[in-house]
Amino acid sequence: MRLSPREFRGMNNPVRRLVQRRIEFPQFKGLGLDASDKDVLEVGCGSGYGAVLLSTQGPRSYHGIDLMSEQIALTGRWDLPSARFSVMDASRLDAFATESFDLAVVFGILHHIPRWREVLAEAHRVLRPAGQLFIEEPDMRAIRVWDRVLHWGHPADGAFSLEHLEEEIERLGFAIGASRRFRWVGWYRADRR
Ligand SMILES: C[S@@+](CC[C@H](N)C(=O)[O-])C[C@H]1O[C@@H](n2cnc3c(N)ncnc32)[C@H](O)[C@@H]1O
Repeated sequence: MRLSPREFRGMNNPVRRLVQRRIEFPQFKGLGLDASDKDVLEVGCGSGYGAVLLSTQGPRSYHGIDLMSEQIALTGRWDLPSARFSVMDASRLDAFATESFDLAVVFGILHHIPRWREVLAEAHRVLRPAGQLFIEEPDMRAIRVWDRVLHWGHPADGAFSLEHLEEEIERLGFAIGASRRFRWVGWYRADRR
């Protein structure tokens, strides 16, 4: 689902990038994220700052996808000549062959997508055996509080708890290899079996 104008502004500013750089990316690294020599897909890459962070690890390739062309248009500001960005719906990754990536990374997008289970299933499909999916997501209780305070307008459809997310990750055939939780936000490394 497209971001509201308020959330679009909230996602595209130096404070958001600081949080992603200083908190979220280190959490993933603590769970074992290592993109070096890997083919990396970022699902819901927004304006591309995740690509900047992942590129510091020297991936073999990086492809970021996002539903909003306005987000993809902003990726041009980064000096990342080998990174690719495409407008695409994360629940239909038809453009990618089965088992074509080593790593898939999600910085907080599933709570925008009522069909989030299909996004996870597609990530599972495009990952190679032993591929890894890194997910950061807030629990639906956090979303409710944020929306009351910030009026970002997340979809109520498909809202999920972290327990539901964990169940779905495992139901799809991933093993949760490592995880961390801080209050209502979870970070996961899901290993494709
Ligand atoms: C909260 S923002 C996070 C953006 C970026 N990952 C970050 O951490 O700054 C959620 C992103 O998910 C994207 N999005 C929402 N629904 C989507 C879908 N069905 N497929 C792909 N991207 C989607 C939005 O356009 C937005 O860029």
